[in-house]
Amino acid sequence: MTSPPHSLRVLVVGSGGREHALAWACARSPLVGEVLAAPGNGGTATVGRNLQLSVTDGVAIARAALEARVDLVVVGPDAAIAAGVTDAMEQAGILCFGARRLAGELESSKAFAKRLMSRVGIDTAAFGVFHEVGAARRHILSHPGPVVVKADGLALGKGAFVCPDSEVALQVTERLMVRGELGDPGRTVVIEEVLDGTEVSLFAICDGQRAVMLPPVCDYKRAFDGDLGDMTGGMGGYCPPRGLDVEAINQRALEEVVTPVLAEMSRLRRPFQGCLYVGAMLSGTRIQVLEFNARFGDPETEIVLPLLGDPVPYLLQAAQGALELPAPALLEPAAVGVVAVREPYPQAVSKGGPIEGLAEAARAGCLVFQMGTLAGAAGAVEVAGGRVLICMAAGESVARARSRAYSGLERLSFAGMRYRSDIAA
Ligand code: AMP
Ligand code: GLY
Repeated sequence: MTSPPHSLRVLVVGSGGREHALAWACARSPLVGEVLAAPGNGGTATVGRNLQLSVTDGVAIARAALEARVDLVVVGPDAAIAAGVTDAMEQAGILCFGARRLAGELESSKAFAKRLMSRVGIDTAAFGVFHEVGAARRHILSHPGPVVVKADGLALGKGAFVCPDSEVALQVTERLMVRGELGDPGRTVVIEEVLDGTEVSLFAICDGQRAVMLPPVCDYKRAFDGDLGDMTGGMGGYCPPRGLDVEAINQRALEEVVTPVLAEMSRLRRPFQGCLYVGAMLSGTRIQVLEFNARFGDPETEIVLPLLGDPVPYLLQAAQGALELPAPALLEPAAVGVVAVREPYPQAVSKGGPIEGLAEAARAGCLVFQMGTLAGAAGAVEVAGGRVLICMAAGESVARARSRAYSGLERLSFAGMRYRSDIAA
């Protein structure tokens, strides 16, 4: 790769905790001189400058990036990937980390991802794709017992329904395909067998051909303790997942999943550059793929990035199609992050009111990444979303990181604050 100048200007696209963590990590990099975020949030405003732009408006982002002489754009959200923000940067001649629109179909169409997996022999749940409700009903009735019904398209992490029996599966299918409760993304469904095992999130930084694995994370998707309640965007997580031989799993995931995906995507002329997130179910010796995301996970990014040294060389090399670095060494062996939401998330989201205790949580050895916030007047931060913040701590063990993260949370407060008490328990 060409050697980077030593005061790069980096623009992070997105407005959540993942983008605060990316902006924070870039701002600490000795290679980076300035960080911008589009549109960013209260957290990115503390490490850089926010630009009021829509994450899906690639043309406006490219214009702003050219104007600000940005050297590298890093795309966070799935909506931006699906809207072709990376493609817009490339057309404008701006280096960009993130999947192009067509590569992003690994995430934005579950049918595309499932068919690709079965073509190249990646282990995944048996499935059918249905565009028509009659065929979906017949499939459910001929497969009695539990099934998973999934919206084909993007649904903010809320498009998968694990159904205990055919009756529930028929109801879900009706809601998605007939009543259109998730809009167009749910008009086509994937119906698949239920897998058992331990769920982990795996991450590969990809340059189109090669990949480097990041540490895996155990993510908590349900709203309440004991994995009860509705699916959410993610309530917290920890790393490394207990009882897992991380090196062995990552090596196998690289060989059995990531490398065949990259080869097939190249063959389809949709080379995958960016972060490939593999949602995997581990059971016995099997690594079965639940889903792909074409971007960093949220909240996994907030948990993993602080464990890495400088991520910027990886982002740069991947964006340049010239990934040569080995897997990163970790600064600490473990990390835990707990998300604080405002009640009654995920049922409803309300805005307004300050967050107290950010400095105190930092003094307790935590990093607080803001997820749903706005920069208020005079450095204040205002609640602006359902998932408000994540309090993370690193440590020599998961147990130590966990107690540190929870002691940080005790110092934080905002109106309607709630968090799960069993993350990494
Ligand atoms: P997805 O949107 O495909 O990641 O699904 C969301 C969540 O639903 C996953 O993180 C799993 O917890 C669960 N899930 C999805 N597919 C399956 C499956 N085939 N078997 C069991 N659980 C699943
Ligand atoms: N943590 C789940 C996701 O990013 O989709």
